[in-house]
Amino acid sequence: MSGETEEVAPPEVHHYSDKSEVPWDIQNYWYQRHRIFSKYEEGIWLTDDAWFGVTPEPVANKIAEDLAASVPKEKVVLVDAFAGAGGNTIAFAKSGRWKRVYAIEKNPAVLACAKHNAKIYGVETGITWFEGDCFDILKNQLSDLGPYSIVFASPPWGGPGYRSDEIFNLQTMEPYSLDFLYQEYSKFSKFLALYLPRTSDLRQLAKVIDDNEKVNVRHYCIEGASKALCAYYGSFDMEKSKS
Ligand SMILES: C[S@@+](CC[C@H](N)C(=O)[O-])C[C@H]1O[C@@H](n2cnc3c(N)ncnc32)[C@H](O)[C@@H]1O
Repeated sequence: MSGETEEVAPPEVHHYSDKSEVPWDIQNYWYQRHRIFSKYEEGIWLTDDAWFGVTPEPVANKIAEDLAASVPKEKVVLVDAFAGAGGNTIAFAKSGRWKRVYAIEKNPAVLACAKHNAKIYGVETGITWFEGDCFDILKNQLSDLGPYSIVFASPPWGGPGYRSDEIFNLQTMEPYSLDFLYQEYSKFSKFLALYLPRTSDLRQLAKVIDDNEKVNVRHYCIEGASKALCAYYGSFDMEKSKS
C-alpha cells in the first residue's frame, strides 16, 4: 500500500509472517489468521493480546449485515464501544449503512492496529477514532448523538476461562458485568447489541430489562458451530435480518 512504509508500529504491535515468530499461546489463532482477517497477508497488525479478542471476519460481516437490516433508518451513527484491533469496526464501515462509525478503544497500541487495519480494508475515512474509556467518551463527548445512534459492544470476557464454563456468568464477567454494561449504555441509546460468549446465561440476559422490553439473542456460527452470540436490546426488527 502506498504511504504504508512511513507508518511505524508501536513496539507491542506485530505482523507475524512465519510460525517461528509467533508466541506459543497465539499459534492456534495464527493458523486461523486468514479467517480472522482475509487480508492478513497485506500486513494486518495485532498486539499479542488482541489475537484472543478479535471477531473473525465472517462473523463480523454477518453481525454488520444484521444490524444494518434491523435498525430504523433514523439511526445513522454506530458506536463500536470496544473497537479492539478493528474486526467489527471494519465490517460496520464496509457495510456502508452508517453515516459515521465511531470506534472507541482505550489501549493506544490496539487502537493503532485498528486504524492500520481499517486502511488495509480501505474504510478508514468512514470511521472516527477515539482513544480512551468508552463510558467516559459516551457521556462527555458523544451524548448529543444518542438519539441517532446505536451501540455495539464486544467487551472483554475475562480471559480464556470462559471456554470451560458450561453456563457463562455475565454478572461476574470481568472487568465489566452485564448489569454495568447495560446500565451505562442505556443512558446513551435505546439500541444496544452486546457480543458475548456462546454459553452466556440467557436468564441473566433477560433479567436486566423490564417486563415490557425485549431482548433478541442470535448465535453466530462458523461451520455449524456457534462462535459467540449477540444480545440485541431495543426495538431491532430481527425479522428483517433473517437469513
Ligand atoms: C474483545 S476486545 C474487542 C475486539 C474487537 N471487537 C475486534 O474485533 O477486534 C475488547 C477491547 O476493549 C478494550 N477496552 C476495555 N475496556 C475499555 C473501555 N473502558 N473503553 C474502551 N475500550 C476498552 C480492550 O483494550 C480490548 O481491546
